[in-house]
Amino acid sequence: MKKFLLLLSLLGVFFFSNIGLGRIGGGDIPFAPKKAKGVVFSHDFHVTDLGLTCQRCHPTLYVTRAKDKPVTMAEMNQGKSCGACHNGKDAFTSKGNCFKCHQ
Ligand code: HEC
Ligand code: HEC
Ligand code: HEC
Repeated sequence: MKKFLLLLSLLGVFFFSNIGLGRIGGGDIPFAPKKAKGVVFSHDFHVTDLGLTCQRCHPTLYVTRAKDKPVTMAEMNQGKSCGACHNGKDAFTSKGNCFKCHQ
């Protein structure tokens, strides 16, 4: 019975987080760097459309907004944050394509 209740509450969390709020994982994540146009990271696109698993990014590259450590483009171009994939091999490079991300 206890296990059943636990399962029910887990299902509840699942439904609330997916249907109730209508967003995947962390939803859209806005970055607002001081010296550039804002960037919106889409969980929906990376997870649903591309099929990337959560573990590709969590917890190695990212934890939560509250634990966010801003990186510079120079660090990104050396493989940090978005640059772990946006390196010109796995996805379009962060050394160009500025306006694909900064909109
Ligand atoms: C392609 C990379 C990527 C993938 C895959 C990914 N995430 Fe994220 N996630 C991010 C980024 C970027 C952030 C923002 C982290 C930051 O600001 O440091 C984030 C943040 C989050 C947050 C915190 C939101 C907040 O407001 O603090 C949650 C929760 C989350 N992701 C859940 C998930 C789940 C669940 C999955 C799998 C279904 C997933 N993520 C897959 C990149 C990704
Ligand atoms: C793959 C997506 C992506 C691409 C492509 C990209 N950026 Fe960024 N950029 C970001 C994100 C995300 C941040 C915020 C990082 C953070 O806060 O951790 C950022 C931050 C910045 C910053 C502030 C930090 C710093 O280094 O001073 C500048 C300036 C910047 N970008 C300029 C550019 C220019 C110029 C280009 C093209 C040559 C570019 N970006 C391409 C995602 C991207
Ligand atoms: C785990 C790998 C991975 C990480 C980390 C990642 N991306 Fe991506 N991203 C991809 C792949 C793969 C594509 C699709 C291939 C391409 O467009 O070159 C993509 C595509 C995109 C697109 C194009 C969306 C479209 O509508 O065509 C944007 C914008 C983008 N990423 C932004 C970001 C930003 C901003 C970050 C960092 C906060 C980030 N990505 C981190 C793998 C990743």
